[in-house]
Amino acid sequence: MNQLAFALPKAELHLHIEGTFEPGLIFTLAERNGVQLPYPNVDALRRAYAFTDLRSFLDVYYAAMAVLRTERDFTELADAYLSRAREQGVVHVEMFFDPQAHTARGIPFATVIDGLWEAVRTSEARFGISASLIMCFLRDQSEESAFATLDEALPYGDRIVAVGLDSAEVGHPPSKFRRVFERALAEGWKTVAHAGEEGPPAYVWEALDLLRVSRVDHGVRSLEDPRLVARLRDERIPLTVCPLSNVKLRVVDTLADHPLRRMLDEDLVVTVNSDDPAYFGGYIGTNYAQVAQALHLDDAALLTLARNSFEASFIDVRTRDAYL
Ligand code: HPA
Ligand code: ZN
Repeated sequence: MNQLAFALPKAELHLHIEGTFEPGLIFTLAERNGVQLPYPNVDALRRAYAFTDLRSFLDVYYAAMAVLRTERDFTELADAYLSRAREQGVVHVEMFFDPQAHTARGIPFATVIDGLWEAVRTSEARFGISASLIMCFLRDQSEESAFATLDEALPYGDRIVAVGLDSAEVGHPPSKFRRVFERALAEGWKTVAHAGEEGPPAYVWEALDLLRVSRVDHGVRSLEDPRLVARLRDERIPLTVCPLSNVKLRVVDTLADHPLRRMLDEDLVVTVNSDDPAYFGGYIGTNYAQVAQALHLDDAALLTLARNSFEASFIDVRTRDAYL
């Protein structure tokens, strides 16, 4: 086992909290809330984890969320992650959440954010992990729905560090949300966006130029465009790469084919993250360990990845410099 991969203090910057929902907890909450899942038991659910692309994953991901109903459910979801993240070396996490996936089912926005916040605000004291929230808009929903979600978030502005963009990428370019992100920036939120996972490099350009993102989530397809690579390097724009996710969702065939090493060789500010670890076969330490093995990354490269994670984070500058 690569002990350094787990022991290195690191920031997790690409983690969907709903993607940490383990089958055991899914069925516990289904029973507690009297919700019938389309899978009879844990084994049947796990058999549905044979994904062929992003869409095939999202179908299962959204189906499992149907059991999340109360504030306590959201607290328990985040607590389950936070209580186990330290053993992966996580000392800071900026977690995504998908409010529209819950409000569309009739769960009030307040239930979602109050539940998550209870876990997040007490995480440092309980687990030694500083935590913050990034609110994602679902890009396969309308601009109008994103604006309505932004309005609902305004009273909770200081609980959210940034807004992001996730869900089915192809056909839903960042430009669709230019006006929403302009408003978010005007409200003082930072911005990030999934781009260049399944979508083309043009979507990464749009995320930079139209959404003014501080970092790009995934971004692996940026390598297809040398001008884009130069821009990312010159402006030190971080990329939150998720290797095990990319294999599970068939963005790459195997870990040995993953472009992470090329991205490091191009001097990009690349970070390694877990995306939806309950679904993709491992948490962040496992992602570090498995890329180290598959791509023959030495200890110095792992250290660079961990340092990059703090440089790329939204931690306040003085705390961040202590980690660098
Ligand atoms: N990509 C896009 N949307 C998502 C993902 C992802 O990897 N995980 C959860 N929502
Ligand atoms: Zn993601």
